[in-house]
Amino acid sequence: MESCRASPFLTQRTSDYTHGMDIQTSAPYTSAVDPRSKHATWVEVDLAAIEGNARALAGSTNARLMAVVKANGYGHGAIETARAAARGGAAWFGVARPEEALELREAGLENPILVLGPAPKDSLEQLVARDISITVCEREHIISAANAAKSGESVVKTHLKLDTGMSRLGAKPEEAIALARELRAFDSVSFEGLFTHFARADEPEAQLTQAQLKRFNEVVSDFEAADLRPPVVHAANSAATLMLAEAHFDMVRVGIALYGLQPSKEWLLPQEFRPALQWKSQLSRVRELPAGSGVSYGHDYVTENEERIGTFPVGYGDGLRRTKGNQVLIGGKQVPVVGRICMDLSMVQLDSVPEAKVGDEVVLIGNQGGNAISAEQVADHWGSINYEVTCSIGRRVPRLA
Ligand SMILES: Cc1ncc(COP(=O)(O)O)c(C=O)c1O
Repeated sequence: MESCRASPFLTQRTSDYTHGMDIQTSAPYTSAVDPRSKHATWVEVDLAAIEGNARALAGSTNARLMAVVKANGYGHGAIETARAAARGGAAWFGVARPEEALELREAGLENPILVLGPAPKDSLEQLVARDISITVCEREHIISAANAAKSGESVVKTHLKLDTGMSRLGAKPEEAIALARELRAFDSVSFEGLFTHFARADEPEAQLTQAQLKRFNEVVSDFEAADLRPPVVHAANSAATLMLAEAHFDMVRVGIALYGLQPSKEWLLPQEFRPALQWKSQLSRVRELPAGSGVSYGHDYVTENEERIGTFPVGYGDGLRRTKGNQVLIGGKQVPVVGRICMDLSMVQLDSVPEAKVGDEVVLIGNQGGNAISAEQVADHWGSINYEVTCSIGRRVPRLA
C-alpha cells in the first residue's frame, strides 16, 4: 500500500457562515500525519503542481495572471491554491463572492482581488475596507459602490463588466461609455478595470469568440479615443489564454488550467501542466456475501454468486454523484461501485482484487499502481464537466497538501 504524505492545510470552517460575512476558519494542523489515521476520505492537493501550472501560464503571456480561486479554488482549497498560484507568478486573485474575497484577506493574502460576480449592497463597505475590487454592470451598482466608499471615507476599486455575447452578466457595449463617465464622476470611485467573458472559447469553432472579441475591442478603442481606458483590461479565461493571444490584453483570468484540468475535450493542456487533485478514501469493511445478497438501499444490486463486497466511507454527502456505474481504484485496479450510493458510504465489487482488505486505499480521482482515474473521466461518466466534479467535493472532505 502506498504511504501518504500529509501536511494538511485546511480551508474548512468549523461551522458554516452563520453570521453574515463573519469568517470562521479552523486552525490548520501542524504535524504531518497519515490521513488515513484521521479521515474517512480526503483530497490530496499537489501544491507544487499548481505553482508549476501558474508558472507555465505566467510564462505564456505578457499580461498579468489572475488565479481564479472561486468555489474553494475549484474544490482544491482556495487559500493554499491562491498561495501556490502567487508563488508561480499570479498577481491577482479572482473570486465570485464577497465571502470568498474576505476569506483570502483574512488568511493574509495581500494581492489585488476582484469579485467577479455581483456583490450584494450590504457587502460593499467590508469589501472597500479590505481593498477588494468589485464588478459593476449598471448605474445602480456604481452609485451603491460610491456611497459605500464615501461612508468609509475611502475609494472603491471597480471593474466594468460588458456582456459581449455570454448573456449572463454585464452592461451592453453601447452603454459602456456612459457608465465609464459615471464611474469617473465620483471621487470615491476608482475605475480600475474593464472586462468581458467568453462563452465558447473552449470550442474549436472560433467564430463566436472572435465576434465577442471584436465587440470588446471596439469598446476598448472607443475608451482609448475618449481617454477613458482603465489600467486593467481583461477577457481571457483558460482556453482563450492558451489559444488566443489577441485576447490577453492587460490580464488573463485563469481557473481550470491552473488546476491542471483540461479546459475542454477539444483544447488539451500542454504536456507541462499537471493535475493537482486526488480524492482518496480507504476500505472500511470487506465481506464475502452469498449469492442473492441485496446491497445497499433498494437492493438495486444483488450478488449473482458468492462475491467480495467492500464498503468505503464516501457518499453523496461528500460529493460522490449518486449515479450508477462509478468506478474507483483499489489494489491498482479499476473496480465497480455497486448498489446505491448512500450519504456517507458506498460499496464496491472486489472479485478482481481478492487480496483487498480493510484499510486499503480507495482512489476516486488520481493514480494508484500505474492506473489512473481523471476528473475528466468522472465527468464523462456523470454527463458533466471536470469543473463540476472537483467543485462538488464537499466541504467536509479535508484538503491535504
Ligand atoms: C468571469 C470569469 N472569468 C474567468 C473564469 C475562469 O474560467 P476557466 O476556469 O475556464 O479558466 C471564470 C470561470 O468560470 C469566470 O466566471
